[in-house]
Amino acid sequence: MRRKLAAGNWKMNGTRASLAEVQAIAKAHPAAQSDLLLCLPATLLSLAADQLSGTSVILGAQDCHSEPSGAHTGDLSAAMLVEAGARAVIVGHSERRENHEESSELVRAKARAANEAGLMSVICLGESLAQREAANTLDIIAGQLSASVPDTATGENTVIAYEPIWAIGTGMTATTAQIGEVHDFIRARLERRFGAGVGLSTRILYGGSVKPANAAEIFAVSNVDGALVGGASLTQADFTPIVTALDAAPEN
Ligand code: PGA
Repeated sequence: MRRKLAAGNWKMNGTRASLAEVQAIAKAHPAAQSDLLLCLPATLLSLAADQLSGTSVILGAQDCHSEPSGAHTGDLSAAMLVEAGARAVIVGHSERRENHEESSELVRAKARAANEAGLMSVICLGESLAQREAANTLDIIAGQLSASVPDTATGENTVIAYEPIWAIGTGMTATTAQIGEVHDFIRARLERRFGAGVGLSTRILYGGSVKPANAAEIFAVSNVDGALVGGASLTQADFTPIVTALDAAPEN
């Protein structure tokens, strides 16, 4: 009942010259069974939107402001991202929670603003290494989930991405047991809060050093509906095998 989703997060990487890679990623998946989302720097959205029209690739941004307009120098509203061609946006990535001191309450406001503008929000959660070592992972996830996800969430307008901070960009992937425990927990919490309809239709992605070499085993874990991929989404050579592994993954 949940369509699998491979999402690429280009972070602060990519210039006009990188559009060739976007094109190559799109061309490699003419009929992907999974949804394919590319979250590009805002400066590339309009250009990529033209390039991707007629393909099945979904274009996304990496952040939005919680207000629709106003005196917020340097920020972009969700409606601006829609106009630039985005259909989705990442909110609450740990790099923004850390570098910009974003709270879960702000992330929730951003997710709501995104949904109101017609964007699907990809809401990121994850524990630090210290929190995991102190056996606080599930408490942290529970708190972030309840505070970051708006009451208006549905399976169509919301995706949850579980990204242990210690696994992002480090080459250290969580074990399949660690991933399964957290994904099952998130699923149970979503069902408890929203009921089975929303709870069972909301996709839960894993993120943190997903690579071609580890994708298949991660996609076989229960309640893993896809991945949010950073470094390995930057090139077609790395991203395509991950999407192919997702296409081939069993229903779970
Ligand atoms: P990574 O990044 O795949 O490079 O670890 C994932 C993310 O931050 O979304």
